[in-house]
Amino acid sequence: QWGLHTNWLGQHTIHKSSTPSTQFVAHQAAREMAAHGTVVIADEQTQGRGRMNRSWYSAKEKGVWMSIILRPGIQPYLAPQLTLMSAVALADALRRHTGTKPLIKWPNDILLSGKKTAGILTEMQAEQDQIQYVVIGIGLNVNHQETDLAEDLQGRATSLYLETGKTWQIKELVQDILQSFEKTYEQYIDNGFPAIKDRWEKYGFKIGEKITAKTLKDSWKAKFLGISEDGALILQTENGETKQLYSAEIDWFER
Ligand code: BTN
Repeated sequence: QWGLHTNWLGQHTIHKSSTPSTQFVAHQAAREMAAHGTVVIADEQTQGRGRMNRSWYSAKEKGVWMSIILRPGIQPYLAPQLTLMSAVALADALRRHTGTKPLIKWPNDILLSGKKTAGILTEMQAEQDQIQYVVIGIGLNVNHQETDLAEDLQGRATSLYLETGKTWQIKELVQDILQSFEKTYEQYIDNGFPAIKDRWEKYGFKIGEKITAKTLKDSWKAKFLGISEDGALILQTENGETKQLYSAEIDWFER
């Protein structure tokens, strides 16, 4: 049905015309032992969600709403690398497919002309230091018009349509994203994170610039040097110290 060009990713797909969230469907399928590489795709989500419990607008034909079930044989603490790896795969697919120039805002928002076009939500189920499964949710804004963006998102979010003036076929995007994802995942599993890190840094938004990074407790104004061999944000603070943050939000709208 999807005409995929992959070897194993999406061999099994679950397609829903409408569902609250492909993440819910994927978690349930994974608990019921769905295979590594199972993909859940919806035309529409009624309760799409983003990171930090935010809601994610997911109307019919407007975007790619999908979740990928993985069963990687890696330690749970390495799971954030899968998020970075997914962002690289998605950025690569978008660049090739649409000729646009995506950037990745650490860790995993995809930006076009400085506005968010796609987001990734990684959720993991682990027991006794073993990953049972990971669900990678990908949301890509494709055919949104200006009026499809909620007011609070205007100026901060965009879509492929708004960036290119063209409408894009969801199915063809899914094919290319999954092909890119499969290759990138294999590169990660076979060779580890360093190759992914190099690819990530080519897309890194504001590398070499001053940013504000916020953690739950602190806020750091610092130069963004790049990411570490294991995926952390490397910052150089005003007094010249380097700092690594594994979890933070970059305040990206300051200029
Ligand atoms: C973010 O940037 O906050 C992540 C957004 C992730 C959205 C996708 S759409 C498919 C999957 N199902 C969901 O409910 N969320 C993810």
